[in-house]
Amino acid sequence: MARYEINGGKPLNGTVTISGAKNAAVAILPAALLVSGKCRIENVPNISDVRILMSILDRMGAKIVSPEPNVVEIDCSQVQCTEPDAELVRKMRASYYLMGALLGRFGKAHVALPGGCNFASRPIDQHIKGFLGLGADVDETEDYVALTPGEEGLRGGRISLDMASVGATVNIMLAATLIPGQTIIENAAKEPHIVDLANFLNTMGARITGAGTDTVKIRGVNSLRGGTYAIIPDQIEAGTYMAAVTAAGGNVLVQNVIPKHMECITTKLQEMGAKIINYDDAIRIIRTGKLRQTTVKTRPYPGFPTDMQAQVCVCMALAGGVSRLTESVYETRFFGYCTELESMGAKIRINGKTATVTGVERLNGSTVCAHDLRAGAALVIAGLAAQGTTYVEQIHFIERGYEHLIRKLTALGADIRRLDD
Ligand code: EPU
Repeated sequence: MARYEINGGKPLNGTVTISGAKNAAVAILPAALLVSGKCRIENVPNISDVRILMSILDRMGAKIVSPEPNVVEIDCSQVQCTEPDAELVRKMRASYYLMGALLGRFGKAHVALPGGCNFASRPIDQHIKGFLGLGADVDETEDYVALTPGEEGLRGGRISLDMASVGATVNIMLAATLIPGQTIIENAAKEPHIVDLANFLNTMGARITGAGTDTVKIRGVNSLRGGTYAIIPDQIEAGTYMAAVTAAGGNVLVQNVIPKHMECITTKLQEMGAKIINYDDAIRIIRTGKLRQTTVKTRPYPGFPTDMQAQVCVCMALAGGVSRLTESVYETRFFGYCTELESMGAKIRINGKTATVTGVERLNGSTVCAHDLRAGAALVIAGLAAQGTTYVEQIHFIERGYEHLIRKLTALGADIRRLDD
C-alpha cells in the first residue's frame, strides 16, 4: 500500500495555491445532470472523489472532456440512466447527490447507499424527509434508495430540516430546481458550497434565493441551459495549509482563497500565536514564536468547521498549556486520529464530545494510519511538525480531497514523498 514518508521539523515557507472546493465540486458535477446543454466548469480539483464522480456520470452517458487541467466540460443531455453504477457510488459519500439530481431530472432514481469517510454514523433521514416533502415516494432498503413520484406527483414544498444538514440542503436544492412550484428549505445549511451550488444553478437559469441564510427558496423552472462557472476555492484545504504552518512554523502566502470564508479559522490560529494578514484573495500566515492554548468548538458555518477539527488538534498538541476541543456536528470525530497522535507523543484525553489536549514540547516521528480524509491531513501536519521520520498509511483517504498535496508541500520546503510499495 502506498504511504507518505515525512522527515519533519522543517518550517514551511513560500506560496501555496488553493484548489477548487471539493465539497462544492461534488455537488456541482451532479447538478450538471439538470442542465440541457454543455457546462464548462472551471477550478475543478483533480482529486479521487471528483474522478469517481466523473466515472459515474460517464457510465451514465454524460459526455465529459477536460480541455485543460482543472476544467471539465460536461454535457448530460443524452443521459437516460437513473441507476448509477452501485460499486462506484459506494466508493464515496457525496454520490448521494445523484439522488436529488436524478429525481429532479427524471422524476425517479435508484441509487446505492454511499460509502466514503465513515468517521461517524451518517444518516440520511433529512435527505429522505426532503424528497418526501417534494412529493416523492421513497423506498429505502439496506443497500439502495429508490425514488419515484408519489400519487400526487412531484411539486414544490416547505421542508423544515431538523438540523442544518449540508447534504440534505444540497439534495433538496438539486431535486427542487426542475420541480414545479416553490420549495422552501427552512433551517438550511449555510456553508460556502451551498452558496456555490446555488450560484452555479442560477447561472444555468435556476431561480434560487436565500442560499447562505437559514431559508433557501427554489422556484422550479422548466429547464436549465448550459454555461460557464468557476468553483470557489476550498476553505478546508486552505485551513489545512494554515494549520500546517501554525504547527510546523514558517511564513506562507496562501493564495486563491476567500478570506471571509476563513474568518473562524484565522481567529483561532491567531489566538494560538500565528500572525495573519488578509489580502483580497490571499492570506499570509506567519508563525515563529511559541504556540498558546485555545478553546475550539466545531459548529456549522459560519462556526469553526468540523472538517478542521483534527488539523487544529495537532496545533493544540504543540501549544503551551491545556486546550479544549469540542465536536458538536458529529457525535465524535476523535477516534480517527487521536490515538495516532498519541503514538507521536501528543497528550490527549477524550471525554465524550470534548478532547482535552495538554501541549507537549515536541512530537516524534512514528508510523501512523489515516482513518479518514481530515484525520489523514492532520497526521501529515503532525509529521511535518514532528522531529524525525513519520510514515502515514492509508493515504487513499487523503487523496480523496487534497490535490497535489506532495507537490504543494514540497514547494513549501517540506521533506515529504509518496512511497508506492
Ligand atoms: N445528519 C442527520 N441526518 C441527515 C443528515 C445529517 O442526522 O439526514 C446529521 C449528521 O449525522 C451530522 C450533522 O447532521 O451530525 C451534519 O451533517 P451534514 O449533513 O451537514 O454533513 P454531510 O452533508 O454528510 C458535509 C461534508 C462533510 C462535512 C459536513 C459538515 C460534503 C460532501 N461533505 O457532509 O465533509 O464534514 O458536511 O460540514 O459536503 C469532508 O470534507 O471531509 C467531510 C466529511
